[in-house]
Amino acid sequence: MSNESFDFSGLTGLSGQPGGLPGLPDESVLQELANQFFQAPPVPQGVAGTVPSSVAGSGISPSAVNQGNGVDINDPQTSLPDPHFAGTGHVPSSVAGSGKSPSAPYADAGQTKGGARSAGTSGGVSAPSYPGFAGAQGFTGIPGSAGTPGFASVPGYYFITDKNPFVKSVPAHPAGAALASAPYDVNKVRRDFPILQQYVNGRPLIWLDNAATTQKPRSVIDRVSQFYERENSNIHRAAHELAARATDAYEGAREKVRRFLNAASPNEIVFVRGATEAINLVAKSWGDQFLQPGDEIIVSHLEHHANIVPWQQLAKAKNLKLKVIPVDDQGQVLLDAYGALLSSKTKLVSFTQVSNALGTITPAQKMVAMAHAVGAKTLVDGAQAVSHMPVDVTALDCDWYVFSGHKVFGPTGIGVLYGKEDLLNETQPWQGGGNMIRDVTFEHTTYHNAPGRFEAGTGNIADAVGLGAAIDYVTAIGMPLISQYEHYLLEYASRLLTGVPGLRIIGTAADKAGVLSFILDGYKTEEVGAALNQWGIAVRSGHHCAQPILRRFGQESTVRPSLALYNTCGDIDALVAVLHRLSSNK
Ligand code: ALA
Repeated sequence: MSNESFDFSGLTGLSGQPGGLPGLPDESVLQELANQFFQAPPVPQGVAGTVPSSVAGSGISPSAVNQGNGVDINDPQTSLPDPHFAGTGHVPSSVAGSGKSPSAPYADAGQTKGGARSAGTSGGVSAPSYPGFAGAQGFTGIPGSAGTPGFASVPGYYFITDKNPFVKSVPAHPAGAALASAPYDVNKVRRDFPILQQYVNGRPLIWLDNAATTQKPRSVIDRVSQFYERENSNIHRAAHELAARATDAYEGAREKVRRFLNAASPNEIVFVRGATEAINLVAKSWGDQFLQPGDEIIVSHLEHHANIVPWQQLAKAKNLKLKVIPVDDQGQVLLDAYGALLSSKTKLVSFTQVSNALGTITPAQKMVAMAHAVGAKTLVDGAQAVSHMPVDVTALDCDWYVFSGHKVFGPTGIGVLYGKEDLLNETQPWQGGGNMIRDVTFEHTTYHNAPGRFEAGTGNIADAVGLGAAIDYVTAIGMPLISQYEHYLLEYASRLLTGVPGLRIIGTAADKAGVLSFILDGYKTEEVGAALNQWGIAVRSGHHCAQPILRRFGQESTVRPSLALYNTCGDIDALVAVLHRLSSNK
């Protein structure tokens, strides 16, 4: 079945219309058609997620082309060697036609040059035929192509009871549901993200600033809207219908987070503003209550400022000692040195699971076990991990785990503190107010257990619900599959970046996720960022709120492309093409 057979655009308009619109087909028929449309072929046994050998080993890219023709990098309208147009004369013969790049489908896709790129919709581009990752070509969508069929087109509502006349009995998580057993089709994923369907500086947006924040799928955007349209109320506070709906949605989101992290109980999930607030909460509640002068806190050299400053403040206030686990020249924690820092004085080890500046994945489970062996508590900063890999706090056995919703395709202003239930319940609250109390007199207050104990005041209810939708989204696709796909992209990107003359990657750990930091000879990092922006490519340039680790490598700043599940080899090719141009201009 091809998507040309059906006009799905009307489906979008059904959203929020109780009972459907007059004159349109029955929703259940449309849902069935959509399900048939998205029914993907089964993944061949044992091949899902493998790197196509023709790319993995080749070390070549359509980007490594057309160097030295003096094109003004400040003028994106001039003829940059653009890998998205492989086969249009810019590709060297060693690569053109070889089919070695996942971007190669563009050669057959009727692409036109310059701003008039045709949309890479599923109707117009044949998916490349390597196993596991379907359709990993570059750009999809053109402005105004919102009618392209996507999972978000299937109407979905969240209601707490079917006594409500507006209730639709639809799967709770329509977005991505059809992907659950499918090979990874990045073009389907891309169509779920409206923001990616736009041009920036005359070029389709390439979002490679995912470590700073991720974009939001339609299902998350719609879920937050639906909350405000149909459920908005304060929670836990009234007997009316909307209070029940809002409470149910909020607590439902907490349960989704519990499952996502494999925590033992929803009582272990505290909603906060983000990872930074979660760490501050632990420092200002547990740290203030339990740490004594002379106690030691250990962090790693890789940490984001959010996992340094609160401990520094606490150390100063309570006369504690802060120690730092060193890293090697690849940016990997030195476990022997870490072991040497641990002692009975160590009360806390707080470290990142993935470095936001280098991408290093730390051996978190081992580090937690080593800390526990001396009786220390452990906090794992998962802000840069949760969108890239499955997380299991039970297996990690950490005492706290923190992450931000906006880095895993959810809204800003919502995040999570996971804590072991007994530990949370023996810890004093850090803020006082409504919601967290059992009883208040002018003389005395008693507190709820967790999580209420740490959720004083009216929280960010709608965005917690939106975070639940984001978790539904990635869960439906499958975190293991996302992880495999991104690993492949990272390898692809690392290989191509290494081939850019004058470019040095900062952070070359054997185990990395999501992040590629680099410097380029002859350019300030902000100049590289600005040049990329001229081509519609968004990366972060700067210190990434992680100055100590950059200084460890003699740098004050780097350029940092960072990956997410919707990035393609085409995105990497475009990035590398601009970098080749910059490099050859010096
Ligand atoms: N922590 C975010 C980053 O790494 C903002 O860019």
